[in-house]
Amino acid sequence: MTRTLYLFCSAAPPVFDVAKVIEDAQARGWDVCLGLTPAAARWLEPSLEGLAVLTGHPVRSEYKRPGEPDMWPKADVILFAPATFNSVNAWALGLTSTFVVGVVAEAIGKGIPVVGMPCVNAAYVQHPAFERSVELLRSAGVAMLYGEGGFVPNQPGQGRPDAYPWGLALEAAESAGSGPDT
Ligand SMILES: Cc1cc2nc3c(=O)[nH]c(=O)nc-3n(C[C@H](O)[C@H](O)[C@H](O)COP(=O)(O)O)c2cc1C
Repeated sequence: MTRTLYLFCSAAPPVFDVAKVIEDAQARGWDVCLGLTPAAARWLEPSLEGLAVLTGHPVRSEYKRPGEPDMWPKADVILFAPATFNSVNAWALGLTSTFVVGVVAEAIGKGIPVVGMPCVNAAYVQHPAFERSVELLRSAGVAMLYGEGGFVPNQPGQGRPDAYPWGLALEAAESAGSGPDT
């Protein structure tokens, strides 16, 4: 049976590689639904139609209106990458003003496996909220790929979006989706 991966991205430079990541996930057997923060959707605006065709599902960046039907199949796993400083902290605090953060916040309570991989520089991570957010999300069962075996922060201005470890993120999503509940 095809498994559904919600791929959620916020506005950090690795988001520009999302088409390739979708193709990699599809090659691994996932039916992919793409969700974006409004900021990431603005960055990808010229590609949104093509991304909808590639996934076979609408690309979502806004909450539906009351009464509107669900547009996506149910998720087996959610991968939130790249996750910005802003989105990681909002997720940890339960500030659900963006659609994708709302979905991952609820996923904790629904028992849907969630993998998160930040994309943050070494200055952001010195803000005291960041480590706290990562630890809080880990304690709630989220697989946060941060530090060894995940994303390692770069110096400000020295980010290498081409080196963002998407392969680790897809592998973690696969492991998360092969638990006893799936
Ligand atoms: C060119 C550019 C690169 C950025 N890179 C990052 C980044 O790597 N990590 C990060 O946390 N924020 C980064 N930002 C800032 C976020 O885009 C900004 O905080 C945005 O409000 C995040 O919103 P979102 O989390 O809803 O997507 C970048 C902004 C710009 C303009």
